[in-house]
Amino acid sequence: MQTGVSPAPTTKPSTSGGPHMDPSKIDVVINKKHPLNPLTYSPSVATVDCAGNGSAIINVQAVQDFQAMCQAAAAAGVPLGVSSSYRSYSNQITTYNYWVKQSGVAGADTYSARPGYSEHQTGLAIDFRVPGGAVLSDFPGTGQQKWLAANAPSFGFVQRYTPENTPITGYSAESWHFRYIGRVNAENYIRSGVGSLEAFWNIPGGLY
Ligand code: DAL
Ligand code: ZN
Repeated sequence: MQTGVSPAPTTKPSTSGGPHMDPSKIDVVINKKHPLNPLTYSPSVATVDCAGNGSAIINVQAVQDFQAMCQAAAAAGVPLGVSSSYRSYSNQITTYNYWVKQSGVAGADTYSARPGYSEHQTGLAIDFRVPGGAVLSDFPGTGQQKWLAANAPSFGFVQRYTPENTPITGYSAESWHFRYIGRVNAENYIRSGVGSLEAFWNIPGGLY
């Protein structure tokens, strides 16, 4: 049950389709201007093991590359744990309302998406951690974080929220949050040198 702030944007979102608006596609862009359509969309997901260090619930389209990345990281001595992966619309209601209680609406909006506005609802986003570690703010500077920053794109995952791109992504930096866009897109993304999916695909971003 939703008890907190409803996901009411101050601007009308573009939900009418078009490029990068289809939540069933790996090139979808979800941000404060572009929620999932429908808001309660649920993808096809699977629960998968991350090289024996934990499991994730992810979009079936990302399973193969996710497992290959988990194996490669473990082989490199930086086994990956998973803090959060797929979150349904109703999970996101709980998550967002929890953070609103901690930080207020304005504070929560800088780091937690409103229900229907989270990439986690596509099953294409994963928050990594050091196995056994719990606090995401401890992730920067770890071997896992450095390895992911250097190697995740070759498995089709990119860091979604970087410090220099906060104004366009609409969120503060998250060194642990990786988004699956597929190997070809990720290779082109890295080659382009841009730091956000919004800039890469020319999609409006920023605040609600
Ligand atoms: N922390 C990211 C922005 C989310 O809630 O989806
Ligand atoms: Zn995340």
